[in-house]
Amino acid sequence: MVFFRCRLKGRVLKNHIVFPPVLCFGWSQNGEVTREHLEHYRNVAGGGVGLIISEVTCIDAGARIDPSQLGIWSDEFIGGYRDLARICHDEGVPVMAQIQHGGVKTITGTPVIPSKLTEGEIAAAGLEHKINAVRARELETEEIAAIAAQFTDAAKRLKEAGLDGVEIHGAHGFLLSYFLSSITNKRKDEYGGSLENRARLITNIMKAVRRECGEDFIIGIRYGGAAPTLEDGIEFAKIFEGAGCDILHISTGATPKDAVTVPEKYEEFTFPVYTAIEIKKHVSIPVIASNSVGTIDQAKILVNGGLVDFTAFARNILADYRWPQKTERGLEITRCLRCKTCRWFKRALTECLARRG
Ligand SMILES: Cc1cc2nc3c(=O)[nH]c(=O)nc-3n(C[C@H](O)[C@H](O)[C@H](O)COP(=O)(O)O)c2cc1C
Repeated sequence: MVFFRCRLKGRVLKNHIVFPPVLCFGWSQNGEVTREHLEHYRNVAGGGVGLIISEVTCIDAGARIDPSQLGIWSDEFIGGYRDLARICHDEGVPVMAQIQHGGVKTITGTPVIPSKLTEGEIAAAGLEHKINAVRARELETEEIAAIAAQFTDAAKRLKEAGLDGVEIHGAHGFLLSYFLSSITNKRKDEYGGSLENRARLITNIMKAVRRECGEDFIIGIRYGGAAPTLEDGIEFAKIFEGAGCDILHISTGATPKDAVTVPEKYEEFTFPVYTAIEIKKHVSIPVIASNSVGTIDQAKILVNGGLVDFTAFARNILADYRWPQKTERGLEITRCLRCKTCRWFKRALTECLARRG
């Protein structure tokens, strides 16, 4: 059933394959959608995916993780996103954009953190970006409400541009993932402590986006299914569903140690995929499994078996835009070479060794 039509909030999707967010390094000068982006997303949309979640776009010029990251901190970006939405819709593919704040990974401003961590805590958690984590500034309570407003404004701009929804980036060591994890969030106010408090910034964003963008707008979240434990990942899923979230996209969290052992039954899958399977049992909204779902046979086990609702394929589609179509028809594909560090991090498209042949 991977290749069967389905619905997401009234939109018809061609199949259950999602192109997840992939930052196209090197294209944008100052956050604007470029011709290269439009060509790229036209090709992804034309290649047969069911849903696109476009790459990480920053809500604040001073909270970016790369100068070439897309931005949505001002109205000037609406036009570019309007083109992007139109291109995807012309191919019959709904598109959401991933909205983010860099947190400790920020390089265009001061890195910020929910609560100050000691060097010992940073080392024990195995945090990436150690130097930034040490010098990061702890957020004041009032600043947190302002960040929620920036996320909401970003969603409003994307809605105006014609996108189908947003995915709130609560994964991969960015600001919101640091709020979720009890290892990186030691706050004593309403944003720290209990699971509800650690999720509060995100649930506040979800409720405000729903209020401002309407019932029809899709609200998703990407977050770590075991961040820091699977039990937490399950409880967060229920909290997000209660706050009006429409779709969960399960990945990794704030620290590299946010991992669980995959039981033998699911040993062919990575731990984020396993946590997606477990989380799905506890919610009624759809769940996307991602991170090294390598083959269509695995997608079939996951989707046809009812273990999750959607599977995301990033690098397979980067190597061959028509991967979904060709796989469905049994045609030969250009295979991703699984370079130790994906060359799209260096410069999108032109550096990919699989594409160079
Ligand atoms: C070059 C590159 C850029 C990425 N950019 C993002 C991003 O903007 N947001 C995000 O949540 N994940 C990002 N990811 C992670 C992917 O969405 C995906 O989870 C990862 O590639 C694993 O999936 P795969 O095995 O299907 O490639 C990126 C991955 C790569 C290789």
